[in-house]
Amino acid sequence: MAGPRAATARSGRSPWFAAACSATVGALLLPLLAAAAPTAAAAPRCDSTEDCLAQMTLEEKAGQMTQVNHPNVMDNKEALAEYGIGSLLSGGGAGPGGEAGGTASEWADMYDEYQRAAMKSRLGIPLIYGVDAVHGHSNVEGATIFPHNIGLGATRNPWLVRKAQNITRKEVLGTGIDWNFAPAVSVPRDDRWGRTYEGFGEVPWLASSMGRASVRGFQGYRLDSESVAATAKHYVADGGTTWGTGEGDYQIDQGNAQMSERELRRIHLPPYRAAIRADVASVMISFSSWNGLKMHQHEYLVNDVLKGELDYDGVVISDWAGVRQVEGDSYAEKLRKSINAGLDMIMVPNDYKQNIDAIVSEVRAGRISEKRINDAVRRILDLKFDMELFEEPFTDRRYTDDVGSAKHRRVAREAVAQSQVLLKNDGNVLPLSRKSGKDIVVGGKTADNLGYQMGGWSITWQGSGGDTTEGTTFWEAIQAETEGTRTDVEFVGTETGGDYSGDIGIWVGGETPYAEGFGDDGDLQLSEADTRQLNDICSKTDVCIAMLVSGRPMIINEELKTADAFVASWLPGTEGAGMTDVVFGHERFRGRLPVTWPSSVDQQPINLGDHRKDPLFRYGYGLRR
Ligand code: GLC
Repeated sequence: MAGPRAATARSGRSPWFAAACSATVGALLLPLLAAAAPTAAAAPRCDSTEDCLAQMTLEEKAGQMTQVNHPNVMDNKEALAEYGIGSLLSGGGAGPGGEAGGTASEWADMYDEYQRAAMKSRLGIPLIYGVDAVHGHSNVEGATIFPHNIGLGATRNPWLVRKAQNITRKEVLGTGIDWNFAPAVSVPRDDRWGRTYEGFGEVPWLASSMGRASVRGFQGYRLDSESVAATAKHYVADGGTTWGTGEGDYQIDQGNAQMSERELRRIHLPPYRAAIRADVASVMISFSSWNGLKMHQHEYLVNDVLKGELDYDGVVISDWAGVRQVEGDSYAEKLRKSINAGLDMIMVPNDYKQNIDAIVSEVRAGRISEKRINDAVRRILDLKFDMELFEEPFTDRRYTDDVGSAKHRRVAREAVAQSQVLLKNDGNVLPLSRKSGKDIVVGGKTADNLGYQMGGWSITWQGSGGDTTEGTTFWEAIQAETEGTRTDVEFVGTETGGDYSGDIGIWVGGETPYAEGFGDDGDLQLSEADTRQLNDICSKTDVCIAMLVSGRPMIINEELKTADAFVASWLPGTEGAGMTDVVFGHERFRGRLPVTWPSSVDQQPINLGDHRKDPLFRYGYGLRR
């Protein structure tokens, strides 16, 4: 099964090669060119993977396999050339200056500055720079932020997902970044997992179809300078871990997937087959274990299955300091196990010297073969040549101004609308009429909170409440929707006991932002305040609608009885008008549950096919209206 390699990349000649060939002209011309072009860097001094490999020292190869979180070299950019660092990343929230946020042009300036510094190395090999644009380029202020994957899974619309990811591709390119640690093709089986919302749903075919669409959206049909390299993650069975086996303080995240190989191959492996068929450029290894052995040292599943049986020839990257969780008495021993298991790029992401020194010493001691190192570096260089980074190492500023454009936001709004799942609609309360002249009361902690509406991985790693970027809250959207009509809307916030009444009440609440293991939750209950607010609104209006903004199913048995209509909104992102589009009938409700909705948390894990359990709503449920 071929990997993402465009055959020409390995043997392709870069324009720099032509220039270097005309030595006489070059000697006269290049210095003039360099002075004239402010963004020009020292030209690469190797022009194909094999040419670079033939010239590289062991230390330079080790540097090429090293990925560093950018704040670690922010004040020492010379280290990039000195150590021949192959890759940088911005971990969640690591924007320009190491701070969260930053505009697209600030990100692009940061990227170009690092790239210029890196290309001053002896061979001038360009960096590849990674980021988690997991629901749009969500680290960047003003970027278009889409529904998280669980909402995209509810759309059952891979074409829309591809369109959305293509927009994310453009917005990522607008900041210079060339590598996206997305899509997560996790198959979350226990919704108590804090990363449930990063998956498209609980069945492999949903993760496969949406994962494939995402890879195509990010990369196009072949890798080139218009691509952003995609990453299928986290290999493998990250969503199949057992409650109570989580790493450190986590209850389930990074835990142990205790299952037969048959179940692992049936449930968790298919999305990787699909992503590889779509030529995914990289695969990220999971923190989790399979039957007690960490994936970061799993020779069988990485070398034999991923690289052997699935014939994967892209880049296999570790997760954040994932090597440090491998059994071993020293970093060098842990690292050796990971690299020998098949990992190519190491997301250190801090102590890059230790990483480089460890690789060199392990090779010199004969515990890692030169052959293995050359294979890893070949994969990395092939990716860089395929993406034409040697020819076009700097930001293409044509994309920068379009970050967060109205055109992009319209697609996100469409995705929000299609992701909404109507769980209850007694008396056909929905859709409302904007011209009904009715009095509408809106409340709940999420009704006017953009940060809650976006969830985790938004501007910061964990996300936060408030107006952390540009977007439209549900409350702002409903005001716009009813502007100029006889329909009055009143905002009651989170107060209860207030003296108000109305024809229609709309409560918007649910989860506050979280990411990864910080979101592991053993009860999935709404907060008492949420329930109180919902009851208050419903007691003071003739009919009431509940809109649950959450990264997963929650236990809503009582609240479902209280409200006349109930909508699962997931984590919609910046375009709250997608929610009002279905509430007011501009778009039909068409979303379908990507996960089984439990009637009790004790039912977890509960998934399609668990016939012995009686869920509140089955996988695929969703009313039409
Ligand atoms: C995190 C996540 C992974 C992410 C990486 C870089 O710990 O597990 O999904 O891509 O680190 O931010």
